[in-house]
Amino acid sequence: MPDLWQDAMDHAVTLARKAGEIVRDALQNDLKIMCKSSSVDLVTKTDQNVEQLIITSVKEKFPEHSFIGEESVAAGESCVLTENPTWIVDPVDGTTNFVHGYPFVAISIGFAVNKMLEFGVVYSCIEDKMYTARKGKGAFCNGQPLQVSDQKEINQSIIATEFGSNRDPENVEKIFSSMRKVLCLPVHGIRGAGSAAINMCLVASGCVEAYYEIGIHCWDIAAGAIIVSEAGGVLMDVEGGPLDLMSRRVLAANNDIIGERLIKEIEAFSALRDDAP
Ligand code: IPD
Repeated sequence: MPDLWQDAMDHAVTLARKAGEIVRDALQNDLKIMCKSSSVDLVTKTDQNVEQLIITSVKEKFPEHSFIGEESVAAGESCVLTENPTWIVDPVDGTTNFVHGYPFVAISIGFAVNKMLEFGVVYSCIEDKMYTARKGKGAFCNGQPLQVSDQKEINQSIIATEFGSNRDPENVEKIFSSMRKVLCLPVHGIRGAGSAAINMCLVASGCVEAYYEIGIHCWDIAAGAIIVSEAGGVLMDVEGGPLDLMSRRVLAANNDIIGERLIKEIEAFSALRDDAP
């Protein structure tokens, strides 16, 4: 049976590579840095140009598809996931890293149909690592199959998480409280790449047992989510139950045992949903 979405996936890989070149070139020049919701929520001209390149190309090749993109939403476009084939794009995931030349920056392209993810492409463009996953066909990095870790002991695990860009003291307190509890389990370590997409790919690669964060957006995690599940991992909400892409909360783990154990330590809170009217 022909694979209905393979053509779209191949196109996503081509676009991610092209976008990666733009990002790498931009690192050699002066970046035009701007702020969004706060002085630590950064965006650059490159984020906007890359998103424009991806939208224009997708609209040309797949005019009937829908599009949710970080910078389009920042510019006022709606962020509602419908049943229509939808590209969910973060043109530069890890913008703060990008601005500082910290070498973990990704182009993240997820694709959903009937609200279910069909494929994900995350290009960690400074490392030149192309992560891909197609539903039912496994996850890969530069063509090599990925498999999550088989670790079942939380105290033998590395956990990834992030501080995010919300510096409201109450918010920061909850983040630290969760981290303190996780650290004191104890776990082997806590890490954060500064890119949600790359953190998820590290779970898929088996070198990090789990990643959780509250405050991310659907474009940060859509592609990574299917890469994790195709590598054998699990996705859940930070309070248990299934992942809701629009909820701004994610827990990706190598297995249910590690995921459920972490849930007990995470101080959950809510952020305004991505699809809030
Ligand atoms: C951010 C990164 C970061 C995460 C933030 C995201 P951006 O995405 O993924 O790791 O902590 O929550 O917003 O803004 O660089 O695309």
